[in-house]
Amino acid sequence: MPIFTKKSGTAPMSVPAHIAIIMDGNGRWAKKRGLPRTAGHKVGAEAFRTIANYAKSIGLQYLTVYAFSTENWKRPQEEVSTIMGLLEKYLLELLRDMDKNQVRFRFFGDLSPLSPSLRQEAAELMERSRQYEGVQVNFCLNYGGRDEILRAARAYAACCAAGEAKPEDLTEAEFSNLLWSAGVPDPDLVIRPSGEQRISNFLLWQSAYAEYYFTDTLWPDFGPRDLDLAIEAYNKRSRRFGGV
Ligand code: IPE
Ligand code: IPE
Ligand code: MG
Repeated sequence: MPIFTKKSGTAPMSVPAHIAIIMDGNGRWAKKRGLPRTAGHKVGAEAFRTIANYAKSIGLQYLTVYAFSTENWKRPQEEVSTIMGLLEKYLLELLRDMDKNQVRFRFFGDLSPLSPSLRQEAAELMERSRQYEGVQVNFCLNYGGRDEILRAARAYAACCAAGEAKPEDLTEAEFSNLLWSAGVPDPDLVIRPSGEQRISNFLLWQSAYAEYYFTDTLWPDFGPRDLDLAIEAYNKRSRRFGGV
């Protein structure tokens, strides 16, 4: 575990390998300022940029961010299309600044309902950033934990039906390899800003033993200091994984 000195304090702390964040509170941030919800999504995208760079600077290995859920399609069509437009613009910027940022990208979620250009940008970003060795960002887009588990179950069932596998041979490790997150270690710390204390279909399988951290800060206001506070809280936890 890398040790780092906090931006906001003095005591060095150890950084977990994998932090996951539910980037929530954009709409309320905007409403508080009398702005349209989409203004919150714009500032939220900036918050992501800052946190991804900070994560890299403190030696985090994996940062998984929840950007759009399988349930978020229920929102007014206008909000959904604005979010998609912002994502498209944002991915283009990430592609442009790729060499400067040196961040490796993966996408968790079914991208097939997204626009062809968005899918193309995501594929390009994943392919071209594969070479970087710093932090890996797993960007959850049209992601749902239940959907992910269901797809894995279907995939294994199909192998069984084809006579290529047997139900009783399936292990937890193999099942993990059928998820979007295949090859990525489980998150150590899951952070949810915005005051909500629920998981909203995020990393249901992977967060079995994650430490949770909730804060009232809204995502657009979430900065390096907030991440420090979450890591500080994590450092005080005692993880027992069912043992003593
Ligand atoms: C998170 O912020 C962004 C998405 C879910 C796309 P919200 O838009 O959920 O913001 P609140 O929760 O309404 O404040
Ligand atoms: C979770 O936030 C999804 C993302 C942040 C992408 P929501 O705002 O959709 O969650 P609920 O509806 O408050 O549970
Ligand atoms: Mg929300």
